[in-house]
Amino acid sequence: MREKISIIGAGNVGATTAQLCSTFGFGDVVLIDIAEGIAQGKALDIQQSLAILQKDCRIKGSADYADIKNSCIVVITAGFARKPGMTREDLIKANGEIIYDIAKKIPQYCPEAIVITVTNPMDVMTYLVQKVSQIPPTRVLGMGGILDSGRFKSFISNYLKISPDQIYALVIGMHGQTMVPLPRHSTVYGQPLPKIIPEEKIIDLTKRTVAGGAEIVGLLQTGSAYFAPAAAIVEMIQCILHEENKILPCSVYLQGEYNQKDIYLGAPVKLHSKGLEKIIELELTPQEIDAFRQSGDSVRSMISILQQSFFKSTENL
Ligand code: LAC
Repeated sequence: MREKISIIGAGNVGATTAQLCSTFGFGDVVLIDIAEGIAQGKALDIQQSLAILQKDCRIKGSADYADIKNSCIVVITAGFARKPGMTREDLIKANGEIIYDIAKKIPQYCPEAIVITVTNPMDVMTYLVQKVSQIPPTRVLGMGGILDSGRFKSFISNYLKISPDQIYALVIGMHGQTMVPLPRHSTVYGQPLPKIIPEEKIIDLTKRTVAGGAEIVGLLQTGSAYFAPAAAIVEMIQCILHEENKILPCSVYLQGEYNQKDIYLGAPVKLHSKGLEKIIELELTPQEIDAFRQSGDSVRSMISILQQSFFKSTENL
């Protein structure tokens, strides 16, 4: 039996992810969007691209959640993207309502699935998915760290004119303004960044990384990034499906790791076919610990906005 991957939200991120998953032949792909016709149209287009590329993969577009039944992975991309001048945090209420409904539906159709949340503010939405779906935290993950680390890697690669293949870049913490790039834990052919790039330049590269999403929003004017986000989702899916034993930065439920408790934040983790296997705790400097704490504080304050805005206290979010 072929694996089934469902992607909820047929916007740019969802559709690009669906295209990559089916082109790479990961399994059967279902693309869901409640706006009738969007998912069906994009799926048909992708299906025809597969015929041209001579790939034998099934993709279905649908507005009916019943079609996600028995998926092994569900990716949530539904919701609003940022517009120029908006932060990811501005999206809390609007996307919270959308994600709440989706999180109620997933366990009805595929209680055993691994869920990857992408919708912003991602760490908060991942928390919401876990609390509402009641799927164990090991199977509810958020995508952000691979994207932020990928942007960091791309900027380092461009600056040094060295292949990204020989660069390892790491960003942890919240997928937002308070993300924590880790130059000391980022290496070029094994050499930590501070050994090969002057400090002021590292600061420039990390600043550009933190503003990496906003830079693209500012250029596009009508939406946010999607090629790199989709590539980052695919990296997680591939690691899970093929049991690649990679360590990747993902948003996971911290229960004391990095001095944070009961929230989702980005950390390096080992994934396996059942989801989260292990959270890797890196040694951090006092400044890095402080930056991570600020990430935790941002996420906690957004969770309290969610709780106050529209969730009943009985639901114990
Ligand atoms: C970004 C959005 C997708 O970072 O969060 O581009």
